[in-house]
Amino acid sequence: MGPRVGADASPRHASGGPERRIYGSIIWYTDILTTPLESGEFPRRGLALPRASANKEAPISSLAAASPQHHPADTPARRVRLAGSDEFPVVERGTYLNICESTALSRRVRGAADEFLDHVMYARGTRDVRQQHVDGARHKFARLIGTDAADIAIVKNVSEGLNAVATAIPWRAGDNVVLCASLEHPNNVLPWLHLARLGVEMRIVEPVEGAIEPAAMVAAMDGRTRVVTCASVTFAPGLRADLGAIGRACRSRDVLFLVDAVQSAGILSLDVAGDHIDALVTSTAKGLLGLYGCGFLYCRPEWAERLTPAYLSRPAVELPPERYSEMTGLDVPMRAGARRFEVGSVDYASCYAVDASLSLLSEIGMPAIETHALALAGRLRTGMAEMGLAVPHRAFGPEASHIVTVGQLGAGGHGNTTDPLLVRLSDHLAAHDVVHTIRRGMLRFAFHLFNSDDDVDRVLELTREVVSRKAA
Ligand SMILES: Cc1ncc(COP(=O)(O)O)c(C=O)c1O
Repeated sequence: MGPRVGADASPRHASGGPERRIYGSIIWYTDILTTPLESGEFPRRGLALPRASANKEAPISSLAAASPQHHPADTPARRVRLAGSDEFPVVERGTYLNICESTALSRRVRGAADEFLDHVMYARGTRDVRQQHVDGARHKFARLIGTDAADIAIVKNVSEGLNAVATAIPWRAGDNVVLCASLEHPNNVLPWLHLARLGVEMRIVEPVEGAIEPAAMVAAMDGRTRVVTCASVTFAPGLRADLGAIGRACRSRDVLFLVDAVQSAGILSLDVAGDHIDALVTSTAKGLLGLYGCGFLYCRPEWAERLTPAYLSRPAVELPPERYSEMTGLDVPMRAGARRFEVGSVDYASCYAVDASLSLLSEIGMPAIETHALALAGRLRTGMAEMGLAVPHRAFGPEASHIVTVGQLGAGGHGNTTDPLLVRLSDHLAAHDVVHTIRRGMLRFAFHLFNSDDDVDRVLELTREVVSRKAA
């Protein structure tokens, strides 16, 4: 049984020790080479982290840098979409390479959301029917990441899930959280910055070649580290983090490892047990192919027991339905597991939607989706590099994801680029209905099950037109 509301739920580290307050502290952590690594934990690499250069350039790849297995000649043709226009109308509209920004609805997912709207329009659906869809979504997502439904809370979005964890930790002044801030989405930086008022230090690790380097994350940890957090795939430049390496180090130090998985979920495999992840958050509004306003928070049961949510309402406490309106005292047991993080009613339309989209994903199968998306991304990446465009060097190795970025990280703001060639290319692609984004100076393309080699060909052909105009 968890802590009781109203009972003394004092945090583990609530008192004792010197009162060291570090208001507004942001520590740029640069000293990693002097911190010894445990033998055998990670291979020591030649790391050189410059001080506080938030947008360190990733090197430009050349074809020589690309490993041979990523050459298009070796990639089997993927002309067939794993789900086509009969399911995804967006395919008819143009070349949709923007799942990293926004979901694309399938007909069956739209139908599921409509079913809920009909339920409330015609007073058809009972509470039980609604709950079936919520539980269905919870179960299917749990299966997707290799855990049990009891470990999953329904949340509103990534931010809510991250904040739920950040505010549930029994912080003491002087504790710290380790993250590679310049590669995280702002929604996984601001919750930690906000803890400065409690004296919590944000320990910032520099990226290495545009990637989150596990050894650097580990080296930044010390005895006061409570949380290490990172994106499973960064929103730019779109590299995959070695979650297992970071997770292993966290587990051995009893540090909570929290993953923002929104850029992976539904496209790349996630394995919370295998990667020693303690908490993981995603929204349903990208690769999970659901709607906005809904997400999932996984919390490992052993950690849930140690966390005290900042918010509390009926879904988070042990109260049988027949006692719902009997609440007179405050001595109510909090639910065991992740469900203690659920707050009030959920977004039912979104739960119906993601219940349906998770069925679609499981019918096709995550291994097939991952292989498909990675192969298409690999072919586009190599094709872009062949035309002399800058592609992050690390994207040709194990950190490759379904996201392809072109340009220099930081050569522009959140949604623009200062590179005139990329501006022209982006305009040209948009004029030909290639839906893509610009992030932090880079052009960004992302693949999912409804894409095919035809989409890759289209982008490469349009790119060739712009590049050859420049050359002429
Ligand atoms: C890595 C990452 N985290 C979080 C978000 C969004 O967070 P939220 O679901 O809270 O809007 C995005 C994209 O929008 C993202 O790319």
